[in-house]
Amino acid sequence: MAVAVGLAVATPAAAQFPQRDVAAGQAEHARMLKSLGIDKPLRPGVDGYNKAAPNAVNYDEAKAGPFSLLPDPLAFPDGRPVPDADAWWKTRRPQLVELFEREEHGRIPKNAPKVTWTVVKETKTVRAGVPVVEKRLAGVADNRRAPSISVTLDLLVVTPEGKTGVPLILELGFPDGPPWARNRPPPPGPDWRDLVLARGWGYAILDPTSVQADDPGKLNQGIIGLTNRGHPRKPDDWGALRAWGWGVSRSIDYFETDPAIDAKRVGIEGLSRYGKGALVAMAYEPRLAVGLIASSGEGGAKLHRRKRGEQVENLAAEGEHHWMAGNFLKYAGPLTADELPVDSHELIALVAPRPLFISVGNDEADAWTDPRGMFMATVAAGPVYRLLGKKDLGATTFPAPLTLIADGDLAFRQHEGGHTPGPNWPFFLDFAARYFEGK
Ligand code: GCU
Repeated sequence: MAVAVGLAVATPAAAQFPQRDVAAGQAEHARMLKSLGIDKPLRPGVDGYNKAAPNAVNYDEAKAGPFSLLPDPLAFPDGRPVPDADAWWKTRRPQLVELFEREEHGRIPKNAPKVTWTVVKETKTVRAGVPVVEKRLAGVADNRRAPSISVTLDLLVVTPEGKTGVPLILELGFPDGPPWARNRPPPPGPDWRDLVLARGWGYAILDPTSVQADDPGKLNQGIIGLTNRGHPRKPDDWGALRAWGWGVSRSIDYFETDPAIDAKRVGIEGLSRYGKGALVAMAYEPRLAVGLIASSGEGGAKLHRRKRGEQVENLAAEGEHHWMAGNFLKYAGPLTADELPVDSHELIALVAPRPLFISVGNDEADAWTDPRGMFMATVAAGPVYRLLGKKDLGATTFPAPLTLIADGDLAFRQHEGGHTPGPNWPFFLDFAARYFEGK
């Protein structure tokens, strides 16, 4: 998220998230360590602020490797190669899903409740010259299991007036605009919502925090808390990224009922922590047709094993651990990133054969996200796309900034800015149009 970035690197949680219940987050982190049988402190994350710190972040490429040890998405655990698409769908993909669910994202509980959508406000207006219908929806989760915990998904849907069956881009973000952007002039360049409408498509924005708060101290609330009846998480219970992805799935349930939308042509976009969420949503939700994954970094498209930019240890620390399953904490203590049974190239591979655009800012301004590590993951997902009859990225050398690589079903571009999808939107929309409109 644009403004969070500068602040976000390694500031104490209390300064970074004044609205968080930091003591509760720390207690929850300690409780999870205990339930994992970890009695020593975890290794600290890298420090993105203080270059003189002993654990200062590494941005030196020479110290980021080696990577010969990436797990092979197309090898079974006994080393035999995955011979064909059928073996991928029936056996190998489920194996990878199991590993990601158990060790990284956690499982969606079987009792995850039904969501009932209602339109709370409908307005006809004109946006960027296009007559549109704006609907604000509330998705109320059935909370009979835990009546003291209410969860209401907050979704904005904007579609061109008088049209039916339009493609739709769903953003994980802020239906009323990012809080830091209020009362400020809009950033330069076209607004993505206007670009989407100019194509005759619609857009939607889901507030992920209406599904699950971005707060490790609130895991006993939100959808995770509701399904656990307010009790703490087990080590393989879902984390916030998976919960946000569940919210995306429930939003698609709604899209399927709205004649204005063609639910078979829904794309997703998210930035930073919401970029991680968007990638996780795409990996597990087959109804998402295309994705723009922006500056997702560690826990998103970046290879965990790369020792550049943010590290597993940062993600496993108190302030971010709620994004992940509890089991993930092991990899910043008794285990290391190299021992993760899966890495992010395999998360991208779970999206195959659907088209995916990996976006990042320039390597300097957005270095914390490790642009090269995301490029390498995109390359390493290629064999799975090829096995399924699709085109890989078509490049293996890290490109210069502003080089668009989008001839295949995987795309990559570093734009001129920093931590924003902004300048890559037109390129992504052209990419999505190939699939949505056959262009
Ligand atoms: C921090 C965090 C990142 C995250 C970012 C954000 O920088 O370390 O993993 O992507 O915040 O979401 O703004």
